[in-house]
Amino acid sequence: MIKIAPSILSADFSRLGEHIKELEAYGADMIHIDVMDGMFVPNISFGIPVIKSIRKLTKLPFDVHLMIEEPSRYIEDFVKAGADIITVHYETDRHIDRTINYIKSFGVKAAVALNPATPVALIKHLISNLDMVLIMTVNPGFGGQKYIEYCLDKVKEVRTLSDKYNKKLLIQVDGGIDEVNIREVVSGGANVIVAGSAVFKNGEIEKNMKALRAAI
Ligand code: DX5
Ligand code: ZN
Repeated sequence: MIKIAPSILSADFSRLGEHIKELEAYGADMIHIDVMDGMFVPNISFGIPVIKSIRKLTKLPFDVHLMIEEPSRYIEDFVKAGADIITVHYETDRHIDRTINYIKSFGVKAAVALNPATPVALIKHLISNLDMVLIMTVNPGFGGQKYIEYCLDKVKEVRTLSDKYNKKLLIQVDGGIDEVNIREVVSGGANVIVAGSAVFKNGEIEKNMKALRAAI
């Protein structure tokens, strides 16, 4: 079963609560929440208070994608705010193994994200201890960017490692995914699809969710 994780970065924040309800009604499997610090990525999004306030609106899992430097400083706060999955970038943490175990110690799922140019081989030894790997298919920082083709090879590499070391691993892709390329990332082995602009375009969440499902 392929999961769809709409990214609320593309939502109209003046109507965030309504959007969350719509996403739930139209079959989202989890809510993808992009936290940006203006240091690791050249953009600032939103943080802990926003997550706390939308937590009461839905029971859907909160998939929190941390694009922040030294994420271990804030893990406990994101757990308390209601995160179910916490993703940290390999590039932001010098002690990624420790951070993964730290995340898991709170009873939430742990994931590592890789920027497009970061090789999969760097996380080979972590795979058996991870709940999810996030292969970025754009350079992180903004919604609405173009999908980077070569990242598909990395999805396939993660799939091979997962078959060998961790069959339950979730393999997530994030960035520029739409009805045109969703099929190829799923064929490559991805089983959790993040989509921001493809879900929110023209404000037609129901229609867009259906089109994405149909394209898988
Ligand atoms: C980019 C974020 C993505 C982004 C995806 O840094 O991690 O989750 O919101 O948006 P689209 O689907 O528009 O590329
Ligand atoms: Zn993201």
